[in-house]
Amino acid sequence: PGAQPLAGRHALVTAGPTHEPIDPVRYIANRSSGRQGYAIAAALAALGARVTLVSGPTALPDPPGLVTRRVESAREMLAACEAALPAEIAVMAAAVADWRVARAAAQKMKKAPGAGAPVLEMALNPDILATIAHHPQRPGLVVGFAAETEQVVQHAIEKRRRKGCDWIVANDVSGEVMGGARNTVHIVTAEGVEDWPELPKDEVATRLAARIAA
Ligand code: C5P
Repeated sequence: PGAQPLAGRHALVTAGPTHEPIDPVRYIANRSSGRQGYAIAAALAALGARVTLVSGPTALPDPPGLVTRRVESAREMLAACEAALPAEIAVMAAAVADWRVARAAAQKMKKAPGAGAPVLEMALNPDILATIAHHPQRPGLVVGFAAETEQVVQHAIEKRRRKGCDWIVANDVSGEVMGGARNTVHIVTAEGVEDWPELPKDEVATRLAARIAA
């Protein structure tokens, strides 16, 4: 191992999508692969941090050298994050579903002959990033992500204030970022905005971990 500037620090990282159940066999999800968050978790661990990775359902293996907690829904993700505190660092890279089905059916929903399509009532999910950023055990550095398809930086500046986090890593997801291997990000902090070049997600993670350590 190289330098371990984060030795003795605990980092909480969220990654992946969430699955919001409709019934026992159906769910609502999104296209997040978890790659960026997993890469950040691994990069923080490589700098010596003790890392808890709270992951929604992904096809990725548990990264070696850290603790991975697997969850499905946003509410489970929030509970796992709160259980992981205290931490000095939180990086919330998960693509958390904004809404869940208000009342998931206990049994598989049946398509009755002649009946129309069901109408699903939705409920708001908790905002995990905002909750952790306002938590009594708030980590000293809280980093959020902002995936946008337009006005990426302007939305991120507003989001940083609204959510109460320290930095926002803003990325444009109008192209092939979700599920892809590369990412173009802007780091929005209280001091201003840094534009990073298009990089492999692993390289974004290495640079972000180095900036966190600094
Ligand atoms: O509001 P928006 O979903 O664009 O915010 C993105 C940021 O907030 C990401 O860091 C994401 O992980 C976090 N988030 C969250 N819980 C939610 C929604 C978003 O932690 N319910």
